[in-house]
Amino acid sequence: MIEVNVKAGHADKQRDDAVVMPLLLGRKLTASGEALQAATGKVLPSFLRKFDCMGTFGGSRTLYDVEGTFTQRIMLLGVGGEKQLSLHKLRILAAKAARKLDHSGARDVSFFLSELVVRGASLGEKVQAIAEGIWLGLYKFDKYQHKKDDGHRDLRSVTIMLSTRRDLAEAEAAVARAKAIASGTILARDLANEPGNVCTPAFLGDQAAALSHQDLHVTVMDKAAIEQAGFDALLAVNQGSAKEPRFIILDYKGGGAGDAPIALVGKGLTFDAGGISIKPGALMEEMKFDMCGSAAVLGIFKAITAMNLPINVLGVIPSTENLLGAAAYKPGDILRGYNKDISIEIQNTDAEGRIILSDALAYAAEQKPAEIIDFATLTGACVIALGAHATGLLGTGEALKKALKVSGDFTYDRVWELPMHEEYQEQIKSDIADIRNIGGREAGTITAACFLSRFVADVPWAHLDIAGTAWNMKGNDISAKGGTGAGVRLVVDYLCRKAG
Ligand code: BES
Ligand code: ZN
Ligand code: ZN
Repeated sequence: MIEVNVKAGHADKQRDDAVVMPLLLGRKLTASGEALQAATGKVLPSFLRKFDCMGTFGGSRTLYDVEGTFTQRIMLLGVGGEKQLSLHKLRILAAKAARKLDHSGARDVSFFLSELVVRGASLGEKVQAIAEGIWLGLYKFDKYQHKKDDGHRDLRSVTIMLSTRRDLAEAEAAVARAKAIASGTILARDLANEPGNVCTPAFLGDQAAALSHQDLHVTVMDKAAIEQAGFDALLAVNQGSAKEPRFIILDYKGGGAGDAPIALVGKGLTFDAGGISIKPGALMEEMKFDMCGSAAVLGIFKAITAMNLPINVLGVIPSTENLLGAAAYKPGDILRGYNKDISIEIQNTDAEGRIILSDALAYAAEQKPAEIIDFATLTGACVIALGAHATGLLGTGEALKKALKVSGDFTYDRVWELPMHEEYQEQIKSDIADIRNIGGREAGTITAACFLSRFVADVPWAHLDIAGTAWNMKGNDISAKGGTGAGVRLVVDYLCRKAG
């Protein structure tokens, strides 16, 4: 991650390689822009006119070696109408500017974006959004590509400029917060992007152990320990794989000794071939992303330990592959998992996420947490229902779901609720066992959540189906192709609000 600093200062005095100056719709400049314009005589206004710079959102024009300034270049960055600005637009603008300057020869640059007015937002919130945009926008996963050195150097630092020194402390705290959140998101993206032959259950266990910290104790259970504990649903799914499963427990004690933790449960399916109910071949490689729930959980722990959040959080990750080995579990099998009171009829081995989550949720509920949030790339139906722009939200914790919606809107890591009316539960009734692991064609995301609901006891619970949001093969302004880190910004924000 590149260096991001904050500083108070004037644009015409900056000696950085580039100054990024916002241009509002109608060629309007901010106060810093006006000052820069005053220092440069007629250069800016005539340039704006000549090149038809209107200030439309996301466009940019660059001027080099402008007389009256000390910077190598001025990038005029279109921000659209000020009334339409939002924290997320600010995040996108920072990402766009950072990406344009990266690999352009500029090394140290300054952004004059924090004085833009975003309705209802504090300076700290704006600086946080800008810093997140820089780090998330510059993210790439290129470790497996042999690079040819073309001589261009990467961006080294961005200074977020402030109009007054009085704001320094608030802005520095905001950058620290953004750094924790971005590094958690980047961990989630990296884990997601790693191929299935590298990111195995054992690898996820090692990654979790590497997060250990004075307040975070990590336990990684191997197959023998899993057998001992009776996580038999996880073991059933693991039967078709030659790789050992893992059951990972993260115990973060940043809060009071007696405070019930918030439990975070993440699906860690490191490759989902579907099992005996095998998936079609097209795009099956994307099923390496089926561990994105666990990646979100690990990313969140990375962020909250960096922030030393004063709160208790329990993480639970069941991890295995879903393959077709000779011992694989089969359609028609009936099994009992960690909760021995519920028998499960398998009708489709590809609905394995809910199976392994049943053990993790039952274990989490047994620890008597204040609430449970689970993250899972659980259903193709959720991709159809909500696409890539909102995570499916379901569950029983009404206050929890409401708070997640607030955090979703604030962070733009958005959620949309689907109902869980009790009638849907009928779809997972089995003729031969207590429940079956599929609910028919209708309402697939809801019936998957109905299945999970059987294992959370009476703990307030929210389920996040990130099947459509956890990866994006097109890429967007703040996320390169591949893993997005969905759920990290959302739930870190939720936990921060909880911690007060
Ligand atoms: N990991 C998949 C869900 C998934 C599918 C995520 C496509 C992202 C894109 C999950 O294990 C699965 O296969 N679910 C089945 C359930 C069905 C058999 C009831 C599905 O959604 O098709
Ligand atoms: Zn599956
Ligand atoms: Zn799956």
